Amino acid sequence: MLDVQNIRKDFPILQRKVNGKPLIYFDNAATSQTPQQVIDVIVDYYTNYNANIHRGVHSLSQEATDAYEQARIKIQKHFNAKHPHEIIYTAGTTHSINLVANGFSSLLQKGDEIIVSALEHHSNIVPWQMLCERTGAILKVIPMNENGELILSDFDALLNDHTKLVFVNHISNALGTINPIEYIIDEAHKVGAAVLVDGAQSCPHIKPDVQALDVDFYVCSAHKLCGPTGVGMLYGKEDWLNKLPPYQGGGEMIAEVSFEKTTYAALPHKFEAGTPNICGGIAFGAAIDYMNSIGFDNIAQYEHELLEYGTEQLQKIEGLKIYGTAKEKTSVISFNVGTIHPYDIGTILDKMGIAVRTGHHCAQPIMDFYKIPGTVRASFMFYNTKEEIDTFITALKKAVMMLS
Ligand code: ALA
Repeated sequence: MLDVQNIRKDFPILQRKVNGKPLIYFDNAATSQTPQQVIDVIVDYYTNYNANIHRGVHSLSQEATDAYEQARIKIQKHFNAKHPHEIIYTAGTTHSINLVANGFSSLLQKGDEIIVSALEHHSNIVPWQMLCERTGAILKVIPMNENGELILSDFDALLNDHTKLVFVNHISNALGTINPIEYIIDEAHKVGAAVLVDGAQSCPHIKPDVQALDVDFYVCSAHKLCGPTGVGMLYGKEDWLNKLPPYQGGGEMIAEVSFEKTTYAALPHKFEAGTPNICGGIAFGAAIDYMNSIGFDNIAQYEHELLEYGTEQLQKIEGLKIYGTAKEKTSVISFNVGTIHPYDIGTILDKMGIAVRTGHHCAQPIMDFYKIPGTVRASFMFYNTKEEIDTFITALKKAVMMLS
């Protein structure tokens, strides 16, 4: 069991007040909060060994390089990648997806098919649409049912010899649905298609094993799992990463440069042009250490309790409808109350110190499916409590009364 009161002490921000009330932070699917252990690593870097990496012979540069590469190994071990060079540092999930989508421009032909799911975030839709525009490939969509679950028989029907790529998130940011990625990966591989899984929302809750999954690409952002913003990773199988061309040109990613010809560096540097987010990479490693010190099994069990409790309490409010009732879901609850605009509820909750997300959550196709402009979304992490949910429910009832 988690000692949540003790864990909360690791997060200085949870002690602050917002609009005169103790902060209740339920916008974790947008970004998680940062524990002191990770903040200390960031401060230590800038206080003691800030330097550019890989190119310096001086001590600071070597210390920074060691810490950055050690963090890559932590990330590799966490995701159980076979090699450290299969972990590419990026600016985050969106950057990782664009890197792969750009690389496939030279590997796809007109008439090839790529499949995304109806549950995707815009960052796992738009780069593939752009890829289709560049190559003449065709985008197909796995539909979902009213509960927010993908319809797998329709997925099976979409697969054929022309399918080259399948893109799906592990967990939907808007609804919390956990997608059956094991099945999707296996079936896609049967027709020879590569699979990219967007792990932005799963990484704070689940520890994926990329080798056991046999996934071709897996991407995520550090800030969703208690790390800083502006850094993330692309896992790719070595063979795929060797096949993809570089994304950006510049320093670090070359072997030899002349005006006649440039050759590219080996993995992972081929994809890491320019000075990277060094401190961010090191702090990403620290965030992974922190999450593992809490334990992913403990996290999953406790967050499931929060999900069940929050769902039960919300369902008691008259006129409240929850969107996303999949059998397998994480601690994300999207809802509306009657015809009240989600933005109005979010604004009143903020006055009471409660942070929730409102809007389409960068997943407009999901909102179109339900014929709604958006939802209020409460998303819980392991540092949230049932008492916070009680305060939130009381505040929500007040907001509904004021707006009805
Ligand atoms: N994609 C993030 C969210 O779901 C920002 O809120």
